[in-house]
Amino acid sequence: MQPSPIDTVITGGQVVGEDGTVAADILIRDGRIAGLVAPGLAPPADRVIDARGKHVLPGVIDVHVHFREPGMTHKEDWGTGSQAAAVGGVTTVFEMPNTNPPTDTAENFALKHDLAASKSIVDFGLYGLLGAHNVEHLEPLAAAGVIGYKLFMGNTTGDLPCPNDGTILEGFEILARLGKRCSIHAENSPILFRREHAMQAAGRTDPMAHLAARTDVVAVEALNRAATLAEWTGARIHIVHESCARSLDYIRFWKARGVDITVETLPQYLYLDAEMMLEPGGEVIRMNPPIREKAHQEPLWAGLFDGSIDMVSTDHAPHAAEEKRGADIWKVACGFPGVETSLPLMLTAVNAGRLTLEDVVRLMAGAPARAFGLFGSKGVIRVGADADLAIVDMGKSAVLSAATLHSRGKSSPYEGMTVTGLPVATLVRGKTVAKDGQPVAEPGWGKMVRQAMPAPAPRHTETTLAAITVPHQRPFAGTL
Ligand code: NCD
Ligand code: ZN
Repeated sequence: MQPSPIDTVITGGQVVGEDGTVAADILIRDGRIAGLVAPGLAPPADRVIDARGKHVLPGVIDVHVHFREPGMTHKEDWGTGSQAAAVGGVTTVFEMPNTNPPTDTAENFALKHDLAASKSIVDFGLYGLLGAHNVEHLEPLAAAGVIGYKLFMGNTTGDLPCPNDGTILEGFEILARLGKRCSIHAENSPILFRREHAMQAAGRTDPMAHLAARTDVVAVEALNRAATLAEWTGARIHIVHESCARSLDYIRFWKARGVDITVETLPQYLYLDAEMMLEPGGEVIRMNPPIREKAHQEPLWAGLFDGSIDMVSTDHAPHAAEEKRGADIWKVACGFPGVETSLPLMLTAVNAGRLTLEDVVRLMAGAPARAFGLFGSKGVIRVGADADLAIVDMGKSAVLSAATLHSRGKSSPYEGMTVTGLPVATLVRGKTVAKDGQPVAEPGWGKMVRQAMPAPAPRHTETTLAAITVPHQRPFAGTL
């Protein structure tokens, strides 16, 4: 049988990979990359996309977005969230379970899946919750197809109860057997609540009180507790929104010990600092974990190169504009949109000489694909991979503004900031989903991703809760 003809070619672009950039034409057939050829050698095709003067990157994979649906659609829904992603050069999102209902059972997963599949214009994975109340649902959630799990060790939007350590250990024992990665909001809830309540009792409502409640040890302690339990059980973990320079030594320590731990930071931790909270309207940057003192920024940038931080995600966390304002910091919603601005912000850093385009591809496409078992079909431009692409113009500038975001959450800490380096077209499986800053695909083009994780590697299986709650005659033949 003859293969179907090439349907699309992207000509004249600079094709960027983690290992370098080449001038090449990209051939696309049935949504996949069918070939890379020297410029000018592309065969005729129905559709020709002219990428002269542009760079073609693998589409961004953002492993941390909150699209709010079901339950909080005044903040965002799968339509608006995925449109924002597409415009931002993001072709795959992993969506968090702190919706209403939360994604805590296979049934609630199916509910969210159907909403996403009918509305999203980008591909998606859905996290299941590792919560205080649902350990018996972890396995059914895996069977239903979750991309991974989310553990909230620290309180945040949605007020989902944080599991105690016994539940976390049991949850990790189960996840280690399943082999899927658990993304972790690493903050110590009892500490942050005690400090928050003490400051509220003392009458503090100023923006800095938020940072004071969640001071560095809140993050460092939770990171190390999570890594200790992950090492013991063999669970794979991913630390979301790493904000704290003091965590980085510990991350390298756990990686050196062989713990399967990956780490993300966010553009806001690289670009913003806590003092900005004192400016008029500065409360918009309230988020969890907090944006810290400026001294954290340079170590976090360095972490992108020394192996401690694997990837850049967004924690896209939209709220209604009025929920993001107010003089009492405790009443200001936590989080702000990011999925549309992350690639422009990182491309701006490329133009400033802070990192290379190859680094951006590693941090925003390759590393997330590897950590979550997508690499090969996504996260790379090579024959056989999905044609998920961000065509970027490194010379194009824009002034960021909340009002023009495609997210329903019209607030931004980047108001008025000029970025240089913009996605001008985004393709998901060969289809153009955004062009010149506007979404162009019909709702429902997005599909749930298929994942292939390495074989599970559980440890200390003879001492798990499941093992000790069946009758035992003999002591464990334990080894160290
Ligand atoms: C997130 C949200 O609003 O869902 N908010 C935030 O401040 N980061 C939740 C989270 O990721 O903690
Ligand atoms: Zn979080």
